[in-house]
Amino acid sequence: MMANKSLFNIVVLVSGSGSNLQSIIDNAGDIGIKIQLVISNKSGVFALKRAQKSGIETEFIDHNNFQSREDFDQELINRINKINPKLVVLAGFMRILSTDFITAFKGKIINIHPSLLPKFKGLNTHQRAIDSGEKFAGASVHFVDNKLDSGTIILQQKVAIEKTDSAKTLAAKVLKQEHILYPKAIKKVLANEI
Ligand code: GAR
Repeated sequence: MMANKSLFNIVVLVSGSGSNLQSIIDNAGDIGIKIQLVISNKSGVFALKRAQKSGIETEFIDHNNFQSREDFDQELINRINKINPKLVVLAGFMRILSTDFITAFKGKIINIHPSLLPKFKGLNTHQRAIDSGEKFAGASVHFVDNKLDSGTIILQQKVAIEKTDSAKTLAAKVLKQEHILYPKAIKKVLANEI
């Protein structure tokens, strides 16, 4: 059993089901991390329940209560700064982050996106991949910078698109791979292998 002090503290931001969060929780020992806090901008999401079930501190910060993106992000910054985490991990966090936030945690924010970046940034990635006649879809873990889904790529995993795939079946196949990819990518970043 690793001593607690040698674990890297991380904060995870979520907005939804949290299946990637679950995979990070399940692999935390192997990665060598302690998830100090999970923050959601959406109330009652399953991601919060997953964290609570694992005894992880959670916080719901409603972006609707703030006048601007910057005000909401400042609240996030204040909360995260109390922890001073090694990494801020976005796991299905469906909000664009301001320059202030990205500057506050420069080089420490990573995200998982359900496409083979730089292809299909933004939303509705699976339908767009199918409509474009792509042979492969996939997932990418990348550092977050000031442009949407554009930072340095840490790891990617391809998934073949079958003729019979719908956006729904493809999303399920990609998500399964995401669960393997994200823990590996976090481990890689923490080992300074990127
Ligand atoms: C995942 O497919 C993730 O890649 C995607 O949202 C889903 C969250 O699922 N993220 C984005 O689209 C970010 N732009 P989860 O809540 O079950 O982890």
